[in-house]
Amino acid sequence: MKIFTTKHEVSQYLQQLQDAGQKVGFVPTMGALHQGHLSLLAQARQQTQVVVCSIFVNPTQFTDPKDLEKYPRPIEADIAKLQQAGCDVLFNPPVSEMYAGHENWHLDIGELEHLLEGKFRPGHYQGVMQVVNKLFTIIHPNLAFFGQKDYQQVMVIEQMIQRLKLPVKLVMCPIERETDGLAMSSRNIHLTANDRQHALVLSRALNQAKADFEAGEPLNQVTKQAAELIDNESGTELEYFELADGQTLHPATTNSQNIVALVAARVGHTRLIDNVIMR
Ligand code: PAJ
Repeated sequence: MKIFTTKHEVSQYLQQLQDAGQKVGFVPTMGALHQGHLSLLAQARQQTQVVVCSIFVNPTQFTDPKDLEKYPRPIEADIAKLQQAGCDVLFNPPVSEMYAGHENWHLDIGELEHLLEGKFRPGHYQGVMQVVNKLFTIIHPNLAFFGQKDYQQVMVIEQMIQRLKLPVKLVMCPIERETDGLAMSSRNIHLTANDRQHALVLSRALNQAKADFEAGEPLNQVTKQAAELIDNESGTELEYFELADGQTLHPATTNSQNIVALVAARVGHTRLIDNVIMR
């Protein structure tokens, strides 16, 4: 695996391969890699000739400086995992390579960035778009792979791609879970053994919601029951549980073609998100 820390070198290297007709698949990450990230790399491996991963803990998408500071950065272990996964190129720049200081960035994507996660993390998606746009410009991927785990992020990036007419196709990959149902996340390492047990209520609530939905219960009833399940779990603090329209992420109606159940909760000191596609 080739490792680059500068924009210029990685761009130059990939350009040569693309000129020779090879398709580039790109998996942007913030590191602390787990099976969820590796499943994106496996998808990229299947669909493209050159698999590129970036590890960059992007400061502009953190609303809480403490969260940025405590974000795990096990770079040696990550490199070993990428090598094992057959990744071809790692781009791992320092902050100074990505940002020249404070930069103004704003892309209007309408309501989408203010709903759900946006309410609890104002400015977060502007930071995500800012860095992903920079990374796309550097890597020039044909396909970019993102996890359904961050469903709203996928919708946001898709909007950015459309509005800026970026020449890249986004592929959404399914959520990887632990055997007990907990969605894999770099943040799970912050969970104590107790938190870890309480955290299972998220996937339980989503599964219950899916079963209730399939049994034909009204949408507001489905939401209420799932939210109650989480409210009744000690050690957890529900931020939102919503059935959303799969495209707009506005509250779902019976007419919504796609419906996603999305949840965010604090478990101990850790904020977790999860979702399940209802239809
Ligand atoms: P990060 O949280 O490291 O996630 C990188 C990618 O892995 C995202 O597309 C995310 O949805 C996916 N992912 C995380 N957990 C997953 C799981 N359990 N199953 C499947 N995929 C999973 O998302 C980011 O980084 C950043 O916002 C980034 C896009 C890199 C921009 O900084």
